[in-house]
Amino acid sequence: MEATDKMRMIDLCCGIGGIRRGFELAGGFENVLSAEKDEYACQTYEHLFGDNARNDITYDEFRKTVCRTDYDVLLAGFPCQAFSRIGLRKGFKDTTKGTIFFYIARIIEQTMPKVVFLENVENLVSHDGGSTFEIILNTLENELNYHVVGVERGEDRGLIYHKSSFIRNTKNFGLPQNRPRAYIVAFSRDYFGEHLNLIPDSTPVRGSKVIFESVRDILDENVPDSFFLASGFLKTLENHKARQKKNGNGFGYRIVNVEGVENPISSTLLATGGSGKERNLIYDPINGRRCAGMMVGRKKTPINNEYVRTMTPEEWGRLQGFIGYAFLSENGNEGFSFPEGMSNQQKFKQFGNSVSIPLIEEMALFIKRCVKDMTDAFSEEERQRYSIPGPQLRMFVNLEKELKEEVKPKTIEKCCRIVSEVGVSNEFRVKDISNILGVSQVSAYNFLHRMERAGCVRKGRDRYEFENKKNEFAVNV
Ligand SMILES: C[S@@+](CC[C@H](N)C(=O)[O-])C[C@H]1O[C@@H](n2cnc3c(N)ncnc32)[C@H](O)[C@@H]1O
Repeated sequence: MEATDKMRMIDLCCGIGGIRRGFELAGGFENVLSAEKDEYACQTYEHLFGDNARNDITYDEFRKTVCRTDYDVLLAGFPCQAFSRIGLRKGFKDTTKGTIFFYIARIIEQTMPKVVFLENVENLVSHDGGSTFEIILNTLENELNYHVVGVERGEDRGLIYHKSSFIRNTKNFGLPQNRPRAYIVAFSRDYFGEHLNLIPDSTPVRGSKVIFESVRDILDENVPDSFFLASGFLKTLENHKARQKKNGNGFGYRIVNVEGVENPISSTLLATGGSGKERNLIYDPINGRRCAGMMVGRKKTPINNEYVRTMTPEEWGRLQGFIGYAFLSENGNEGFSFPEGMSNQQKFKQFGNSVSIPLIEEMALFIKRCVKDMTDAFSEEERQRYSIPGPQLRMFVNLEKELKEEVKPKTIEKCCRIVSEVGVSNEFRVKDISNILGVSQVSAYNFLHRMERAGCVRKGRDRYEFENKKNEFAVNV
């Protein structure tokens, strides 16, 4: 692709598309493939973007689809999971089960995107004494050959970094939510080479615009009675808080917009959605006066007289930048909505699981500037290399390594032609290669034999298939 074209992205573990939307807002990015396995999140994603994201990234089929997709940027807000002990010892190539990051790593290995952007909970950096994070960085830096912004390579490829360099907080990016999260931005050394030293050693720490300054700015005007707490429940929360305090613990319910605080901000919206909503209660006398003391719906006690309620899904939507920002049309009309019939519980879960879009937008702008600065400095040869799609460059790199001086540009070109005709994941016969290259079957056979020696193809009973050089990488998933 030309350096001036839009960068194509794939959106893995995409949820309702907060990461994708942040990149789209930055301009210069377009989405070409998405994957999400939660049906309700897929419904919202399809409703918002018109794309069917129903794919599971652990399935071989999906990996093959990615191998056939020409794209530049891999996005993933993947779940934080414990890594198996095998993973700790041997790295991602030997780990076949369970850990989403390793499936992502495998996709990166085989399709070599130019840029990788990952998002996760804050705890990722300290999880398991820091070793989970160390494995992730080591995989990206040393196994996949990416430069992670904020990491330096020391002697023997040891990695030097501060965990805090990867934590960014939504409250510094224009929204009133305290949401520290881990963000990883990585650029392929195979594409950008020495130009990587042109880019900053830190991602942005704050944003350039204020969308909502205070929780008071995100509150709904008309709030249904059902959001107000039953007096019995509020009493339970008060008792719980008092007990916690007596035991020296700080945890309890929290009324966010208490008087006297100039610009109150909310606590982190939780991925668990509905549960934990008491961490972000609202004092709302305007709506509360209307229903205080009333029996409503299935509540067992009357609505409380202190005008305390939970937040609404719309308020969570503003705290993440979905509502009132990311989907506004040019004339200021709200473009965000959920599909008809989506339950409140799902809405909370989907927003809580998602990201703060303005923060992602800043990250995308940062990536755009880095790519521009590096590609502007390219030689003609580097420019050509940059135009080779990832799976083909993967072959190129393998051939270069294996055949060393033997490798000729023509060989690479042929190889690229084959990859683009058959796709990296499909099997093929000698006859197919002879057709694609327009050579005799004997020449095609000889060519395939060289590629087999180079570890680029594997011969089955009567067909060939591509494989990455190291067999141990071709784990069955
Ligand atoms: C932390 S959320 C990411 C949310 C997303 N960034 C957003 O803006 O909504 C992680 C998502 O990964 C999805 N997920 C987990 N395992 C998956 C898999 N094997 N394939 C596809 N998606 C998966 C979950 O369903 C969940 O929606």
